[in-house]
Amino acid sequence: MSSLDTPDRPTMAAMLGAYQAPHALYDRARAGDGVAFDPAGNCWLVTDHRAVRSILEDRRFTSDLRFASGGKARPGRRLFIQDVVEKQIVLSDGAEQHGAQRVILQESSRKMQELSGWIRELAAGLLEPLRPRGAFDLVGDFSLPYALQTVCRVFGIPVDDPVRVAELASWSSTMADLTSGYLNIRIQEITLFGEYFRKLVAARRASPSDDLVSSFLTAGTFAQDEDLVINCMAAFAAGRVTSQKLIGDGVPMLFAEWATWRQMVAETPGVSRRLTEELLRMITPTRYVGRHAIEDVDLSGEWGAGHVIRAGQRVILFLEAANRDPARFPDPHELKWERQPNPHVAFGHGPHRCPGASIARAEIQIALETLLATFETLGPNPSAPPVWDPNPNLGGYRSYPCLCS
Ligand code: HEM
Repeated sequence: MSSLDTPDRPTMAAMLGAYQAPHALYDRARAGDGVAFDPAGNCWLVTDHRAVRSILEDRRFTSDLRFASGGKARPGRRLFIQDVVEKQIVLSDGAEQHGAQRVILQESSRKMQELSGWIRELAAGLLEPLRPRGAFDLVGDFSLPYALQTVCRVFGIPVDDPVRVAELASWSSTMADLTSGYLNIRIQEITLFGEYFRKLVAARRASPSDDLVSSFLTAGTFAQDEDLVINCMAAFAAGRVTSQKLIGDGVPMLFAEWATWRQMVAETPGVSRRLTEELLRMITPTRYVGRHAIEDVDLSGEWGAGHVIRAGQRVILFLEAANRDPARFPDPHELKWERQPNPHVAFGHGPHRCPGASIARAEIQIALETLLATFETLGPNPSAPPVWDPNPNLGGYRSYPCLCS
């Protein structure tokens, strides 16, 4: 077995710990062996772009968490929190996952067209009042409320009650922590989040509306309303946290050349669209995804002797590392808006590929255009350092104080 057991080889624990600056570790791991077993973490670490894509499209690997115990379902009475983890489509396979993918994909591209004017107004409405202040928090004042209100709109959730909006922000962060396996969570928030969506689902069942919950109900995607509730919680959190992170972590990459970006995006059609893709590659909000082998998978032909992934073994696919693979992206650590092709895997790949990608792309592109158009200058506030969210998979800046004019 090829393994990361020599001390200088990165381990899963090291990769998780380095969530603020992981790329030196990834470069070492990829150069050593892009598909390597980590005995300490008891999992395979995949950092090579080609391997990440091929495993994500290989049906011998499953997202279904029941395979964590070698394919055996966990017996006994079930708790809501267990269901919340195991019944999310992102952590299961089968008919409901296919159906939900289809509904979200359709809704996402329909909403993207329908909502782009509304999203642009939302961005301008959040940013305009910040300019005269001269200072603001890129995350707290912009990327969080922007991503949250967009996903609320997709779910048909009103945003006129600030207390409820703050609760949804907190509950969805907790939900993202739970999905990431980051167990420093407030379990009560998962219960409250569930209760919120249970009421919303009942309300939409009684009176359908033009939103994602109603589309799920019309399509009959989930056999049980409780599974719909769980997947609303999951999609809401997935849609909010990732877009927030992309903007909160990505915009600071533009600070050093703000005036140039401002001019290019204003004058050259297509720059903001391609810059969106390049920031998705550079930031990769979902650092990694996990799979389990359903059967023994022999990759020795491609990766050399010893690369046999045994049934039930866990495989961690580092999308963030694949997106900086020099074999696929020349000068991988440089931000190049003109990069083409740009086959990043920020939205994943294969059957679980992000079905919300069209709405996320529109959201990010509009945010970049509006930020660049609104501020002549934008940069870090030297007297208030940024703060990180410690979720090792989805956490980005929790706060990024800026000065602006
Ligand atoms: C920058 C924004 C986003 C990024 C980077 C992102 C990334 C991802 C990735 C990498 C996956 C695949 C997970 C896996 O293979 O295990 C995924 C799945 C998913 N995403 Fe997104 N996402 C974003 C925005 C959104 C939005 C806006 C929504 C909903 C409105 C959404 C809903 C989902 C759902 C429901 C899944 C599960 C799909 C499945 O398992 O079949 N995402 N996302």
